[in-house]
Amino acid sequence: MDVQKTIIEPHGGKLINRELTGIDRKEYLEKCKSLSSLNISRWIISDMEMISNGGFSPLIGFIGEKDYQSVLKYMHLANGLPWTLPVTLPVTKADAKSINVGDEVALYSFEGELSGVIQVEEMFEYDKQEEARLVYKTIDSNHPGVKKLFEQGDIYIAGPIFLVNRPSHKPFEEFYMSPNETRKMFTDLGWSTVVGFQTRNPVHRAHEFLQKTALETVDGLLLNPLVGETKKDDIPADIRMESYQILLKYYYPLDRVRLAIYTAAMRYAGPREAVFHALVRKNYGCTHFIVGRDHAGVGNYYGTYDAQEIFSQFDPMKIGIKPLFFEHSFYCGKCMNMASLKTCPHSADDRFILSGTKVREMLHEGITPPPEFTRPEVAEVLIKGMKQKGEG
Ligand code: ADX
Repeated sequence: MDVQKTIIEPHGGKLINRELTGIDRKEYLEKCKSLSSLNISRWIISDMEMISNGGFSPLIGFIGEKDYQSVLKYMHLANGLPWTLPVTLPVTKADAKSINVGDEVALYSFEGELSGVIQVEEMFEYDKQEEARLVYKTIDSNHPGVKKLFEQGDIYIAGPIFLVNRPSHKPFEEFYMSPNETRKMFTDLGWSTVVGFQTRNPVHRAHEFLQKTALETVDGLLLNPLVGETKKDDIPADIRMESYQILLKYYYPLDRVRLAIYTAAMRYAGPREAVFHALVRKNYGCTHFIVGRDHAGVGNYYGTYDAQEIFSQFDPMKIGIKPLFFEHSFYCGKCMNMASLKTCPHSADDRFILSGTKVREMLHEGITPPPEFTRPEVAEVLIKGMKQKGEG
């Protein structure tokens, strides 16, 4: 059965596959030995994987200058498809000297493992300040995305890629699924509507409230935590993954939820990243996507609902996946329930609201956040995990 026809179309109409297998892979393994080579960061390696497994469809490689300019200025690829973040391969000027347009270049991790190959079609200089201003809405180098941008090489090399070796997903191998696999799984489960949930945090009561509210109207939930690169003070992915499993076990209807890792890096680009996250989850087969308060935000760089308002700048038909917007949610002592600014008439004093920073501080100190904020079973896993890492 053709899985793609049974559920939502991938972005651009076709799920991209740039992963070499069998004899083609063998050929390239040999060929790479004689190609010029480059070392690429963990972030770029995760982009290689997301392009090759179709998560970043319709991209077949790192974008060229025309698409780059179009994405920066109009939030669409040059062909008119919505696309909000530049997926690019930066190299230093020194590295660029040994590369020519037309070359195939083998890409290795800094540990020397072969990732894949890029067929270089373009090399171009770009304006970091402009990229920061347009993508991150700030040129402040304290912003983690801007900091990375300012530290990276000055030249972008662009062109189609092939993945030769999948990066390791240890210790989460059993939770890795390609978009093709999640699509098949949804079909097998008989889900025709699926809500995707992005998170880089433990799932607290507010997250749970959004997910379960959405589950009232759709067939299934894909809990899709980001396990790619995050900033240092975010809670490590292995601790989070353990907490998700405990939470699902005790509080979720297991026949209506699936947990799969999202292996891309966190950009912290707020509104633009919210649209990007939605498009990528469409590629995974989700029909709906949750966007709450300050989605993919960091610090005070974005307004609380910027990540929702940005969607009005796009043709919903071209976005395809339906964003589900949620107001700031919390437990209210007077309502004796989870609620949001839309449904709770009480005052701020009645609400259990803790900032991410405050929660991290509590966990570091071994203090259990109140059950109105986090499920006790989840808090226990988080505190234990932080202690084991010497972070508690
Ligand atoms: S994110 O960087 O991955 O967006 P986080 O894991 O905190 O961060 O958020 C996951 C999703 O839940 C996002 O859509 C975010 O907007 C939403 N969210 C988080 N906390 C709340 C809350 N208290 N009220 C409403 N939405 C929330």
